[in-house]
Amino acid sequence: MPELLSPIDDKLHFKRLVVIGLGLIGSSFAKGLKQQHIFDEIVGVDLNEKSCKTAIELGIVDWCTQDLAKACEGASIIQLAVPILALETLLHELAELKLQQVIITDVGSAKASLIDAAKSAFGMVPSYFVPGHPIAGSEQHGVESVNPELFKHHKVILTPNEHTDKTALSVVTKLWQLLDADVESMDPEYHDFVLAATSHLPHLLSYALVDSLAKRDENLDVFRYAAGGFRDFTRIAASDPQMWHDIFLANRNAVLQQLDVFRHDLDSLREAVINQDGHYMLGVFTRAQMAREHFSKILAQRAYVDSMQNNDLVFIATPGGSVNGTVRVPGDKSISHRSIMLGAIAEGTTQIEGFLEGEDALATIQAFRDMGVVIEGPQQGKVTVHGVGLTGLKPAPGAIYLGNSGTSMRLLAGLLAAQPFDTVLTGDASLSKRPMNRVAKPLREMGAVIETGPEGRPPLTIRGNHLLTAMHYEMPMASAQVKSCLLLAGLYASGVTSVAEPAPTRDHTERMLRGFGYPVEVQGNIAKVESGHKLKATHIDVPGDISSAAFFMVAASIAPEASEVVLEHVGINPTRTGIIDILKLMGADISLENIHEVGGEMVADIRVRSASLTGINIPAELVPLAIDEFPVIFIAAACAQGKTVLTGAEELRVKESDRIQVMADGLAQMGIQVQPTVDGIIIEGGTMGGAEIWAQGDHRIAMSFAVASLRATQPIKIHEAQHVATSFPGFVQLCQMVGMNVKEELV
Ligand code: S3P
Repeated sequence: MPELLSPIDDKLHFKRLVVIGLGLIGSSFAKGLKQQHIFDEIVGVDLNEKSCKTAIELGIVDWCTQDLAKACEGASIIQLAVPILALETLLHELAELKLQQVIITDVGSAKASLIDAAKSAFGMVPSYFVPGHPIAGSEQHGVESVNPELFKHHKVILTPNEHTDKTALSVVTKLWQLLDADVESMDPEYHDFVLAATSHLPHLLSYALVDSLAKRDENLDVFRYAAGGFRDFTRIAASDPQMWHDIFLANRNAVLQQLDVFRHDLDSLREAVINQDGHYMLGVFTRAQMAREHFSKILAQRAYVDSMQNNDLVFIATPGGSVNGTVRVPGDKSISHRSIMLGAIAEGTTQIEGFLEGEDALATIQAFRDMGVVIEGPQQGKVTVHGVGLTGLKPAPGAIYLGNSGTSMRLLAGLLAAQPFDTVLTGDASLSKRPMNRVAKPLREMGAVIETGPEGRPPLTIRGNHLLTAMHYEMPMASAQVKSCLLLAGLYASGVTSVAEPAPTRDHTERMLRGFGYPVEVQGNIAKVESGHKLKATHIDVPGDISSAAFFMVAASIAPEASEVVLEHVGINPTRTGIIDILKLMGADISLENIHEVGGEMVADIRVRSASLTGINIPAELVPLAIDEFPVIFIAAACAQGKTVLTGAEELRVKESDRIQVMADGLAQMGIQVQPTVDGIIIEGGTMGGAEIWAQGDHRIAMSFAVASLRATQPIKIHEAQHVATSFPGFVQLCQMVGMNVKEELV
């Protein structure tokens, strides 16, 4: 092991770094670390004398030699940055030197063959050898291209094994981190497989295309008319041929696997061109367009929520401000989800306008794309769904990842229960804690075979090829998601499926099924569907989401300065307007204007003026009609005179977070007297101070505390605000537009 001249956690200090191979990667590594001043000396080894000379002139190394033994004598760390095929010989030479107290690492693009080479050179992989691979190349090469910032914000993959020395691993990790790289660790075979797809295959295609065009007779014209597309696609064909020749030889097996899959896909596209199969092509192109935009997330087998997992977006909401103007909130989340689901199983092409481009609804789009449905957009709220009919869905290539979206998971469970294929539904940390037995249990009673995780939590594994039999179900809780799940399963079950709800819940599924021409009977609290009918494609105009409008209704009501806001084109389906009724009971000044019907849903402009609010006992019948709006209603209650009491709302404990507890904790922190109960909360209106809130994976918690700042006496800092993107993209911008003091910071 190297002699550590000071502890690892403190500033590192070593005697000598040896970098063997002064190409782009080796020299950038050396130069970057030179600027860190942690080595007494940095020594280069390169067979090319000119490179050695240039490396000294450019201040990359202190000295340079072709004598490996001389360079490595007394070295603390040796970085192997030679072409990958030269590594095997180099490792044998290093083994001969019988070095003591040294850490060896490398930058090779293929790892399994390197590990074999290390075994053959040393008899086993030495514990002080930490294989690595910075994903930071460029088409430039040679010592002259040195760039000490080359690795900044790039990934470096280390492939240690269980015998790798912990100190060696942490030293190598630390060195890359000093160069601002993001270090990850991976199994070597998996590394090779992933890199073959994301790096090696594109290089092969790029070289192949340029060569294929260049050697044709008409090549002059091909290159004369080559536009951006050609240039973009072939930029990497300018890379170092020797290096890539080495990589393909070293990572042969994984590259061949990826190439075979690709050849198959290319042949399918060729068939589609021959057969003039525009539908197939549109499917490939729309999926590719989305994948390109979100490729890092797709690579990680996540839908669109990678950013939400990795970064903490903080809202800083400062006291005061007003709420004035005319604004439009994004499209309704419940209707957006259903527009995709029903459009996908309809016959014909459904056009959607006003679609919510939030993470949750995008996860639903991705799910159906995974199941072979061609979906164009969303582009400025417009989506085109090419329906495949009730029986046209195909098995997804892997588990369907639904991010934060409970609605997607519960409704899809019903829709997929009778398909002829298995499906696995997964979600993020918040969704993975939510109860799924409420849908799994009645679906099983209909004949579905569904496995859940422990305690009925996700993932859900839905087994295919099970016939469903219709049934009548008395829901134990008022849940539109459960009702919708069973009605969707009912489309496939023999007989009449009916669901009774203990209290009215949102009825978008019933309305929209009818909008798609599918008969639904509603009698009192019972909704019924019978299988054997079809859905016909339609046009859907998604109104603004009243759940998003709610934040501005409360904001305008509690604003300290006289405020008046008009929320345009908001859906006022009577199963959703509990928020308006509750705020009005508290004394809010709310009026509905321009009320009209759009595609089976009532829509209005909602005018809200500031008012002084009074605490109330929230009527039990309004609870399911305002189920998503309670976090912000609690903020209204904290600003009201007197006491507000909520009961019968235990559902709030199993939403994206335990909304009773998380809101109670935040309000208490702000100095409000608050008493959480099993099924509700008691809030005494008062003066709110500042707070530091963690939104616990819950978009509506973050937005509610941002609204609270209007009446707070101190700033409110809200962590994990990135989840707001699930339902309300552009929330902060809209806050600023109306005069609220909310800004965001990425931490
Ligand atoms: C939804 C129903 C409600 C609601 C959720 C969306 C829907 O859930 O909270 O945000 O689109 O059906 P429950 O039905 O479980 O109460």
